[in-house]
Amino acid sequence: MFIAFEGGDGAGKSTQVRLLADALRARGREVLVTRQPGGTELGAAIRDLVLHGDHVSPRAEALLFAADKAHHVDLVIRPALAAGQVVVTDRYTDSSVAYQGAGRDLGADEVHDLQMWAVDSLVPDLTVVVDVSPEEGRRRRGEVHDRLEAEADAFHASIREHYLAMARGNPQRYLVLDGTRPPDELHAQVLERVEALGIEAPAVDP
Ligand code: TYD
Repeated sequence: MFIAFEGGDGAGKSTQVRLLADALRARGREVLVTRQPGGTELGAAIRDLVLHGDHVSPRAEALLFAADKAHHVDLVIRPALAAGQVVVTDRYTDSSVAYQGAGRDLGADEVHDLQMWAVDSLVPDLTVVVDVSPEEGRRRRGEVHDRLEAEADAFHASIREHYLAMARGNPQRYLVLDGTRPPDELHAQVLERVEALGIEAPAVDP
């Protein structure tokens, strides 16, 4: 099973990733937690370039995020899924569709196609969108911003709209959470949805 968490900067995804991983492990599942960009040595280098470097042209930015995912899926995610682990990732292809496609105006369809090519069409079983307004996200992030976080609220507003539109278009595969609710409440909603996907502990050999 493959679960992705998505949302704007400062939405509280990472807390939900951790709570879900703990809950699944308590049920006896092996869980791999990972994040994008990053999660491999090459990914960490790409992350540095794209988040902390100087200006990166928008198409180069899209390609760098795609390269990170291609490598990550090949080296980390597919092997873990093949070994029967549950993979929980903090961001995945929808981040690029929203940030580069909608935020940077490169075209959501084109960026979606690029991302699908990069990951060889590996799609999560469930994508959880943790939704907060750009203002709330900015408030939670505080004073330190990476290259993307430093963008104006209008950039973050179009990202948010695009996440919500993707979720509306495919309610089977998405769960949208109100990120202003308490973390425990959100976690309960995630768990309920994951359980509905059939996440019972693997059978133990007698
Ligand atoms: P990160 O520090 O992981 O942010 P967060 O804790 O909010 O997840 O930084 C990832 C940043 O990179 C975030 O601003 C979103 C952006 N991003 C893209 O623009 N495209 C992508 O494909 C991915 C994976 C992330």
